[in-house]
Formats: sequence, C-alpha cells, structure tokens
Amino acid sequence: MSKVRIGVVGLGFFAQNQLEAWRVIEGVEIAAVCDRDPAKVEAARQRYGVERGYTDVAEMLSDGGIDAVDVATTPPSHRAIVEQVARAGKAVICQKPMAETLEDARAMVEACRRAGVSFTVHENFRFQRPMREVAGLLRDGAIGEPFFARISFRTPYDVFANQPYLATESRFIILDLGIHLLDLARCFMGDARDVSCWTKRVNPKIRGEDVATMVLDHGGGRTSIVDCSYATHQVPDPWPQTIVIIEGTEGTISLEADYRLHLTRGAEITTRHVPPPAWPWSKLPLDIIQDSVVALQKHWVESYLAGRPAETSGEDNLKVVELVHAAYADAERRR
Ligand SMILES: NC(=O)c1ccc[n+]([C@@H]2O[C@H](COP(=O)([O-])OP(=O)(O)OC[C@H]3O[C@@H](n4cnc5c(N)ncnc54)[C@H](O)[C@@H]3O)[C@@H](O)[C@H]2O)c1
Repeated sequence: MSKVRIGVVGLGFFAQNQLEAWRVIEGVEIAAVCDRDPAKVEAARQRYGVERGYTDVAEMLSDGGIDAVDVATTPPSHRAIVEQVARAGKAVICQKPMAETLEDARAMVEACRRAGVSFTVHENFRFQRPMREVAGLLRDGAIGEPFFARISFRTPYDVFANQPYLATESRFIILDLGIHLLDLARCFMGDARDVSCWTKRVNPKIRGEDVATMVLDHGGGRTSIVDCSYATHQVPDPWPQTIVIIEGTEGTISLEADYRLHLTRGAEITTRHVPPPAWPWSKLPLDIIQDSVVALQKHWVESYLAGRPAETSGEDNLKVVELVHAAYADAERRR
C-alpha cells in the first residue's frame, strides 16, 4: 500500500517533535517541508532526509504529491494556512491553539467541512501515556461515577527561553497551556457547560496572565478545577507533568509526580508506575510530551486510513476553544 504523504509547514521549536514522530510511524512519509525561513527549510531537509523544501505553502500545494498537511506554525498564521490547504482538498492537522479567536476557529472548522477535508487539531496532552491510563480506568468504571476532578500544572519553568513570542501575547497561559488541561477535563468528565475563571500576572516581564484557576460545571453536580501557573516556586519542579485527581462514587484515581498512578477503593490502594516509553530523540523530562506526539500522530494515521475523524477533530476541539474564551470572558468580568 502506498504511504500517506505529509507536508509539514512551520519548522520551528515544536515541529522537530512532529518531524521525528512522522519518521518512526509506519505507512507515512514526509513528502515536503515548508517554512518562510529558508535556513530552517534547508536544515529540516538535511536532518530528516526530505527532498522537497518550500518557503511558500501555495507552491508546496501546487506541486502536488501530498495527501495531508501538518501545520506547526505559530497561531496567527493558522487560519490562512488551514483554509488554503482545505481549498486544495488536502487533509489538515493544525497545532493548538487552533486559532487565537473563536471567530477564526469557527471559520476554520467550517472551511474544512465545506471542502470535505478532514481537520484534526494537534492536541496531544490527552495522548500522554498516563492520561490514556486514567481515561481507561474511567471507561472501565474503576471509580464508579466521577463527580470531582482536579487537573493541575504548576511550575517555575522558563517557557519563554524556547518560545520567546509567548512573553508578548496579551493572552498567555490559558490560550497556550490551559487549553490542554481544559481538553483533559472534557476527556475525563465530559463536556463542560459553564466555566468560572480567575487570572493573574505574576511575572512583570511578560504581557499576559501566567496564573489561572478555572472551575468547570460538567452538569449533574459534576465539577472540576483546572489550575495552571508558570510562576510557582516549587522544588523539585514537576514540569512538564500534569497532576490529576478524580473522585468517583466508588473510588479515587490520582496521578502524582513521576507517573505514580494510584487507584483507591475504600481501604484498598493499587499503585502503578506509568512513565512514557522512550524514543531515540527523547529528552528528559520532555519525554512525556514527545511520546504523546507519536501517539497522537499514530492515531491520526489510523483515523485517516479508516476514513473517520480523529478524536481531536476540529469540531471536537472547537468546544475547547469555546471554553478558553468563556474563561477569559469570565476572568475579565470579575476584574
Ligand atoms: N503541544 C505542545 O506541547 C506544544 C508545545 C510547544 C508549541 N506548541 C505549538 O506549536 C506551534 C508552533 O510553536 P513553536 O514554539 O514551535 O513556534 P516557532 O516560532 O518556534 O516556530 C514556528 C515556525 O513557523 C514558521 N512560520 C510562521 N508563519 C509561517 C507561514 N505563514 N508560512 C510558513 N512558515 C511560517 C516560522 O518561521 C517558524 O519557523 C504553536 O501553535 C504552539 O502553540 C505545542
């Protein structure tokens, strides 16, 4: 069977994980790479052994020979590129956040729907190995009916060293990181119908908020707290791990630092160690994120070949984008 031919657009910091992942997934080839910076195009061509390199998406598309485009550029460019790919009739995967505004996100989903192309958001946190384990326990009814969750990501990590553009965004932590945690909350507790939110900027050198606390109403008395911070003094630093507690009518699931997963039912506690598998390019402690990229992209290939939408389809992910903007609106109202 012929391979699925991928064109990767945006060859910056995070795309390296996506490129590494495509290389180890069977049935896929990186057919072309594209970035507006020619030096990055050349570097990616050399490193990943890709023949075709471009500085313009339109040129890459008009040359053909591509089945799907993986968009790993920064958010302001996402809508234009996704719409361009949809017009060319190719499947599209787009990094999170799908867009900076709800209007853009809705337009992107609609453009792909109209063009009849599959649209997936590269939302990888739910593909982290421990998160798959938590979701599996919930699916198996291990704690009965879940009624409360806390999903927490707090760190002193200097995220701006690799991604300096984040320091100048007027909206930072919810749009960049909280979006992953809100998606996890949906994944574990079901869709939310309301969100309350409080934000704060602690780091005086950045423009947006770096601390946020959100309370979600999942209906039927089910709630979750989603909290994130890039301003927390903490030793050891758990970055980039997400800490999860889910309480249910028959038990509690708790995912602690270092991938310790506890299942408590009455007085009975079962503990398992659920670290991510290592890949040749894994770099501790980023291995958890890097493996989730492989898992998401594998899932995408299976879904694409089966002709069904991926778990993190554009339509599904729109619900997370809606939550992000509802959270900002609530935080602004409180201020
Ligand atoms: N899921 C995760 O864990 C995770 C982590 C980090 C970043 N990200 C996401 O990855 C995306 C990229 O972030 P990054 O930090 O790698 O950014 P980056 O600035 O390092 O890289 C972006 C690249 O896109 C290129 N580019 C921008 N506009 C373009 C256009 N119109 N045409 C061609 N090339 C263009 C830039 O030249 C740059 O090389 C963002 O959406 C970010 O949120 C996800």
